[in-house]
Amino acid sequence: MRDYEFYYTQDGSIGLYSYADDDVYHSKFGAVTEAWEKFILPSKLDKLINVNEEIKVLDVCYGIGYNTKALMSYVINNNEKFLKSENIFKKIIKKFKNKKHTLQYNNESIDGNNIKLKKEILSEPIESSKEEVISKFKIDCLEINSELVKISPLLKTIITPQEIFSRICPKFLDCFDSYWTIRKKLSRLALKLAPKNKRGISELLDLKFNNDYDELDYEYRIHEFVNYILIDSLADYYKDNYLDKATKKLIRKRNFRRFFAPSLIKYALFRQDKRYKIISKLNLFANLHNIYYDHLSNRYKKAKFKTAQKLFNIRFHVNDARKAILDLNEQYDLIYLDAFTFSKAPELWSVEFIAELYRRLSPRGILMTYSNSALVRNTLLENNFYVGKIFNEKTGKYIGTVAAKDKAMIDYPLSNYEVGLCNTRAGIPYRDPSLSLDKYEILKRREYEFKTSDLMTSSQYMRSRMSKNEEEDDE
Ligand SMILES: C[S@@+](CC[C@H](N)C(=O)[O-])C[C@H]1O[C@@H](n2cnc3c(N)ncnc32)[C@H](O)[C@@H]1O
Repeated sequence: MRDYEFYYTQDGSIGLYSYADDDVYHSKFGAVTEAWEKFILPSKLDKLINVNEEIKVLDVCYGIGYNTKALMSYVINNNEKFLKSENIFKKIIKKFKNKKHTLQYNNESIDGNNIKLKKEILSEPIESSKEEVISKFKIDCLEINSELVKISPLLKTIITPQEIFSRICPKFLDCFDSYWTIRKKLSRLALKLAPKNKRGISELLDLKFNNDYDELDYEYRIHEFVNYILIDSLADYYKDNYLDKATKKLIRKRNFRRFFAPSLIKYALFRQDKRYKIISKLNLFANLHNIYYDHLSNRYKKAKFKTAQKLFNIRFHVNDARKAILDLNEQYDLIYLDAFTFSKAPELWSVEFIAELYRRLSPRGILMTYSNSALVRNTLLENNFYVGKIFNEKTGKYIGTVAAKDKAMIDYPLSNYEVGLCNTRAGIPYRDPSLSLDKYEILKRREYEFKTSDLMTSSQYMRSRMSKNEEEDDE
């Protein structure tokens, strides 16, 4: 039975709350913001993009895909200049100039020629100029819940009232006090019309802001192409079983309908229904025309979309991540570990599972997670990772943990105090030698180890450091 509830997080993106685990899947302060700040910004993408031809990413616990979506948005925005210049018609003209190709199609009808030519253009490697590398991203997404994976690209992100104002009002008006007063008043009015969370969920999650949505940083927005690219990948992965009966029922459910974007559903249905039927070329082009023109708005965008799509190879592995990982033989540049908190999903924080991640991280790769706990950090240390912290420049706080095989990849290493904390009982890790134990068994085993351990407890450790006045000196 479905045990989760949708709700609007403070930045206008949709989050999930699990009744069974009494836990949120996403920060109530902003699901999209969290993805950017804990996973995308610490990825040092500026050092990888346009340097490596292929960048491999492992998204462990894809859920509804915010980490992958934010990454894709970053990549598309980063290539915006290139995408603009990469007009399909310019490419066709370029192709026609190439004699070799013209000869190749000599024996075909004009129609056949065009189709084959288009296909070839779309499958050739992206190269903007000889000196500049356009990196392609291979993203492997691991997730146990097929339903979440299927609906992930169909969910809306609401545009917050503040964002609407910043789009429609010219920037120079910001310097007038009266502008801010009017904006505040209009904002309050618009908030009344903005989607509301159900009272139960607001109270449950202590959503004090009551839909007083925060302004989402402009660069944090999910790029309009991302969901379409994901739908295409999912339609390929699930084939005609993508939007099955159960999924259709879910997205049409009265309570849930307001969380889904009709245009994305329409596109997904098109991709599923039409792709695997034998239809005439004429119909195919008519359909493409409708879909892309409706939802991507114009021919230029379609060319841009196709080029953006070529930047990604997204593969889904819908299974227990402990099993799925064994079939992956890549070396990843980035690993996003976004499992539920360790007491809820100990199987994904065990020494043995982290060891599998270590094996698959490239020598200069980075693993990122939101957790700051001594247990998680010690499990990483036990696996020979160099461990550090994720620093949020906006808030001046540490908001997660990074791990790498190369010390140079760590900007904010753990302090002596934090390493010491890892060596207390709080740092005792979970064990799952066969990568198949039941989560309660994993919890039970650790509890036993905890009770019988000779190590200091974390509070004893803190007290001892405080009495020596050492807590702060190495922070
Ligand atoms: C905190 S949520 C991840 C949120 C996600 N990154 C997003 O952007 O929506 C944790 C996810 O882990 C998944 N999960 C739980 N146990 C798992 C397992 N053993 N293998 C793979 N995924 C698992 C859950 O279904 C859930 O979607």
